[in-house]
Amino acid sequence: MSVATAMIIGAGSQLSQALAKQLSAQQVSLVLFVHDPESLKQFAESLPDEVAVYPLSIDQPQAVIAQLNEAWTTHNGAHLVIVNTGVNDYDPALPWSIDQHAIDVNVMGFAAASQCIFKLMCEQGYGQLAAINSIAGQRGGPNVAYHASKAFAENYLQGLSMHAQRLKLPVTISDIQLGLFDKAVHLNTQLLLSPIDKVAGQILTALKKGKRRVYVTKRWRIVAWINRLLPEYIYNTRHWKPKKKRG
Ligand SMILES: NC(=O)c1ccc[n+]([C@@H]2O[C@H](COP(=O)([O-])OP(=O)(O)OC[C@H]3O[C@@H](n4cnc5c(N)ncnc54)[C@H](OP(=O)(O)O)[C@@H]3O)[C@@H](O)[C@H]2O)c1
Repeated sequence: MSVATAMIIGAGSQLSQALAKQLSAQQVSLVLFVHDPESLKQFAESLPDEVAVYPLSIDQPQAVIAQLNEAWTTHNGAHLVIVNTGVNDYDPALPWSIDQHAIDVNVMGFAAASQCIFKLMCEQGYGQLAAINSIAGQRGGPNVAYHASKAFAENYLQGLSMHAQRLKLPVTISDIQLGLFDKAVHLNTQLLLSPIDKVAGQILTALKKGKRRVYVTKRWRIVAWINRLLPEYIYNTRHWKPKKKRG
């Protein structure tokens, strides 16, 4: 028998699937939202506990609100909802289409999903809303809209947390500040790179502790701290300096 229900919004990503596996092994019943539900069929069947899969149109705010409300009613709510959607593209020519896509998915879609779930949890009287965010939100960066959208997410979550306090409800808002894994893979640095199961494990441990904000993996807290302290003339130029080739 399931001990709790968790929803994962953006279940197609590798990290979402690692989270889903670990939650399912802990007898948590899962409700997964994904762009193309057919693509997740085999994965869902491989999980030990109950799983339902629903479509997700994260770039269409009204549609996503309707999709979440419908599933919430069908499953009588949820204890935990993890929002893990996002796009991150880069082109130095800065075409508007890249920024627009990031704003549609990472800002509009993110806000629509988070606000909708927050209100549903307030009606329910409890719950935990967690979002996979990024330390990229701490400062501007070359993927202009992506960095800005992560700052938006951080502030949005803090605002929701304030409202939970105002309403005196046990609704926890958790901001998961993820390190830059793609960058770590690119640089091939074992110091910063962590296996995805370890990342998922640390996220779930932090969520169980009800953390408001957490760096994953832990060592990224130090990178984030240095990142914040760098003077702008160093922070800005280090992005453009040509990298020395490894021998
Ligand atoms: N990867 C990293 O290095 C890294 C580092 C720090 C933080 N993060 C954060 O982690 C989160 C996920 O990023 P990721 O790198 O794991 O990316 P990812 O693997 O591409 O996951 C993004 C998720 O968003 C979904 N998505 C994107 N556009 C969608 C749309 N229009 N409709 C429905 N679903 C859509 C994708 O679904 P489909 O696969 O079905 O399209 C996928 O499940 C982001 O918030 C990102 O900021 C990632």
